[in-house]
Amino acid sequence: MTTESMNTTTATARAHPNIALVKYWGKRDRALMLPAAGSLSLTLDVFPTTTTIDLVDADEDAVVLNGSPAPAEFTRRVRAFLDLVREMSGSEARASVDTHNTVPTGAGLASSASGYAAMAVAAAAAYGLDLDAAGLSRLARRGSGSATRSILPGLAMWAAGEDDETSIALPVEGPELAMVVAVLDDGEKPMSSRDAMVLTAQTSPYYDGWVASTAADLDLMRAALAADDFTAVGEITESNALRMHAAIMGCRPPVRYLSPKSFEVFDLLASLRADGLEVYGTADAGPNVVAVCRLADLERVEAALAAADPSLPLVAARPGPGAHLIDPTAVGPSEEATA
Ligand code: PMV
Repeated sequence: MTTESMNTTTATARAHPNIALVKYWGKRDRALMLPAAGSLSLTLDVFPTTTTIDLVDADEDAVVLNGSPAPAEFTRRVRAFLDLVREMSGSEARASVDTHNTVPTGAGLASSASGYAAMAVAAAAAYGLDLDAAGLSRLARRGSGSATRSILPGLAMWAAGEDDETSIALPVEGPELAMVVAVLDDGEKPMSSRDAMVLTAQTSPYYDGWVASTAADLDLMRAALAADDFTAVGEITESNALRMHAAIMGCRPPVRYLSPKSFEVFDLLASLRADGLEVYGTADAGPNVVAVCRLADLERVEAALAAADPSLPLVAARPGPGAHLIDPTAVGPSEEATA
């Protein structure tokens, strides 16, 4: 054990999940986690993950998830991520990792984006890496692709890039958006997004069409955001999500994330649009449908969804902050670190 690794260093970071308007589905390089195409998302202000990393004098990394020792596969991935941080920092110190998600149990909402964004910021600080937002997003990407974008606040694009150095998150200007998450899922996903992406690339005849189409959607989305054209933003968002699901449904053996209830919610959003309330739907690798609207319409959209289906558990979300260090001794959910 070196003297350096005997010094205990601690950092705590917080990050929020993001929901993509143009989805990431497929890698061109699985080791480096380079995406087949770029993507673009909104980081939310709900469901933060808070992660503390302590460098300790131990033989292996210890990982605690929501107060209990993490499952083996979760721990294996965190250790692989920390190996990368050790390689970058030149330190051999092992870490004690304590991570807390606030996604309600059974909500079925992905926490890998907030999880690895918080992990990247905490690990960089604990291991003394001096990284800017681009460097942090590049590091977070190695933990989970979608985490790349949760480093940044609000609208963020994950550029497909040329290589490891250029496949990073970039801030994007656009209209003020909001989302309402309809929590429909209370079970395990049929297959992880990581595995299903590989199966889609290997077996879905629609995969190549998806990659070409999502790259084009990213250009259309950036133009729509720059023009403050919410109608185009919404139409591209909904169509892009359904194209991703179509490519996934083309897998053999088949994979299907959307449920009959998901389609009911898409239909409900269409009927709200027909009544003059502009709202569109999207869905990640699960049945939960996320309604996308203008920030100014958030309360109306939430009320309309609740009125149409009072059994729908709804969570309203606004644009949220990027991943940041916090002072763990400070009270309140969004205290910034002073150090
Ligand atoms: O969470 P990951 O990095 O395995 O990828 C998830 C991909 C989707 O959530 C389905 C789409 C996206 O762009 O976030």
